[in-house]
Order: sequence, then C-alpha cells, then structure tokens
Amino acid sequence: MFKSDLFKGKTIVITGGGTGLGKSMANRFAELGANLVITSRRKEVIQETSEELKSHGVDVLPIPCDVRDPEQVENMAKRAIGLFKKIDILINNAAGNFISPTENLSSNAFKTVVEIVLNGTFHCTQSFGKHMRKMKNGVILNIVTTYAWTGSGYVVPSACAKAGVLAMTRSLAVEWAKYGIRSNAIAPGPFPTKGAWSRLAPPGLGIEKKMKNRIPLKRMGEHIELADLATFLISDQASYINGEVVTIDGGEWLKGAGQFNELEKVPQTAWKLLNMRRKKKK
Ligand code: HXC
Ligand code: NAP
Repeated sequence: MFKSDLFKGKTIVITGGGTGLGKSMANRFAELGANLVITSRRKEVIQETSEELKSHGVDVLPIPCDVRDPEQVENMAKRAIGLFKKIDILINNAAGNFISPTENLSSNAFKTVVEIVLNGTFHCTQSFGKHMRKMKNGVILNIVTTYAWTGSGYVVPSACAKAGVLAMTRSLAVEWAKYGIRSNAIAPGPFPTKGAWSRLAPPGLGIEKKMKNRIPLKRMGEHIELADLATFLISDQASYINGEVVTIDGGEWLKGAGQFNELEKVPQTAWKLLNMRRKKKK
C-alpha cells in the first residue's frame, strides 16, 4: 500500500513511543524509512524500543521526558531538533487512564490524567509548533478516543482530556494552517495493549468480552491497521486533510456510545476489592 521509502528524510516524534500503539506506529514509520524520536517517562523502556527500531536502518533517539512538565518538554524538543535539525511530524500519543466511579476520584486523580493527556499534548504542540512555524511546514497527529465526543462514565478524566485534545486539533487546524501545519486526530476503538488493558480491562469484570460483543465487526483492532491509518494521515498524500478526526473502531461507537457505561453493572464490593488490590500493589 505504501512505498518502502515513503518517510525517507522525515523525522517523526512520538510521545509514549516505547509501548503499545505508539511503539506499533514507530515500527511502521521506521519500516517506511522515518527517523524517529520516541519519548516517555521510563528511560529503559524507550531505550529498549529504540534498539529494536534501529534494526530498520533508521536513526532513533530515545529521550526520557514527562510531558506534564513544560520545561522537560522544551528540553526534549531542543535535543530532538538539535540532533535531526528538522522535525516534520509530531504524534501526541502519550496518555494516562484508569477506570473508576467518578465519585471515588480525588482531585489529584483527575488532575493527573488531564495533565498527561491534555496539558501534555499542549506542551508538546507548543514546543514543536514553534519549530514547525519557523520551517513553515509540519504535521500534528493526536491520538484521542471515540468517547472524546460521546463522553463515557467511569473514565471521566480521560474523556474530558481527550475532548480537549480534539478541540485543540480542530482549533489549530484552522489557526496554524497559515504556517503550513496540518492538525488531525485518530479516534481508536479497542486495540489490546498492556498499558490500556491492565488499567481498563482488569481480569474478573468481563470487560474484554463485552467490548468484543459490542463491536459490529466482532473483533478488536489490529495494531497494523491503526499504524497504517496514521501513516496515511501524516504522509504528503493526505496534504489536504486538515482538522479531521478519523475513527477506527469496527463501528463500535455507533452501536453504543460511551464505552464504559456498562460498568454500571459492577457491584460496589468489586470496586472496593479492585481498589484494595491496586493499593496493595503500590
Ligand atoms: C482511582 C486512581 C487510580 C484508580 C490512580 N489513581 N489510579 N484513582 N482509581 N485506578 C489516583 C491516585 O490515587 C492518585 O491520587 C492519582 O490518581 C495519581 O496516581 P499516581 O499513581 O501517583 O500517578 P502516576 O504515578 O503519575 O501514574 C499516572 C497514572 C498511571 C495515569 C495513574 O496509570 C499511568 O502511569 N498511566 C500511563 C499509561 C496508561 O494509563 N495507559 C493507558 C492508556 S489507554 P491521590 O489523591 O491518591 O494522590 C487510553 C485509551 C482508552 O487512554 C480507551 C480504551 C478503549
Ligand atoms: P500505553 O502503552 O500505556 O501507552 C501510553 C504511553 O504514554 C506509554 O508509553 C507511557 O510511557 C506514556 N506516558 C504516560 N504518561 C506519560 C507522561 N506523563 N509523560 C510521557 N509519557 C507518558 O497505552 P496504549 O493503549 O498504547 O495507548 C496509546 C494511545 O492510544 C493513548 O493516547 C490512548 O489514549 C490511545 N487509545 C488507546 C486505545 C486502546 O484500546 N489501546 C483506545 C483508544 C485510544 P511511560 O509510562 O514510560 O511514561
């Protein structure tokens, strides 16, 4: 579907690029010749992933960074630009999430997720946006979710933050088009990853089975399907697509908006047990 040198000469920054969907996108972009910057909090994770990615014969720079901290983000961007001279594409993929009845959330729990997802996306967009505006060229792709527009019970901090990211995507698509910067988003349905599943589909609640049953295509997404969609959206072939959010969910949200609303059926005792197990783990 894509030429093997599609991204030759391009450099792509992926936040949360060491694991899950970020890693799968990184792998696809590297196969197609992109140089990469991958960033997240855990140094060992991004270092290990970058070694794997280098097997495609591209340059990969892992930079530890907490996207919640604008200073760390600015330093990360300076290092990335310093090494590669130009950054063509930014993928805001890093996220934090967990399931919880909203009444049990502390203000710090809400703040933590919003700071990663919404503030983190803003900090990265600002730091790389400055560089892209100077170059008069750039592409920003934000990973949201389908409940960014439906909302969803039990993941309220994430839903609020992703809705904000979607608003940012559409706002900047208009405001920064004059600088040659395109902004788009992908809204995935369920794609199994360790990060998401450990927090959103803990064993014992039957969440995974229910998710699958709700999807009209009756299966979860394959990582390569999302990576190929991202590839198209950030490529020059999509140069007139700006301000769009593309859903990739097998038709799930149309069948029943609000992915976690079914947690209504989980008894209070199960929530208590989950909470105890989480605290014990810490
Ligand atoms: C209630 C919780 C909680 C839970 C944490 N908190 N987990 N509250 N239920 N399950 C509260 C804590 O008690 C604390 O509040 C506050 O949140 C911060 O928690 P920390 O553990 O100190 O935060 P931190 O170490 O910074 O970790 C951030 C995190 C963690 C978001 C909590 O899960 C993380 O690092 N996640 C990164 C990866 C991730 O989440 N991937 C999944 C993305 S999937 P107090 O008041 O006690 O101090 C996704 C897509 C979803 O987004 C769509 C799927 C279909
Ligand atoms: P994941 O593997 O847990 O990815 C999240 C990444 O974000 C991790 O690499 C994590 O690395 C990084 N991260 C978290 N907090 C950070 C911070 N403060 N600073 C920098 N990096 C941080 O989960 P995933 O499923 O692949 O999710 C990837 C994206 O897809 C997210 O935006 C998620 O919302 C979206 N999404 C996923 C699904 C799904 O079904 N999987 C569905 C819809 C949307 P560190 O812990 O090392 O920091």
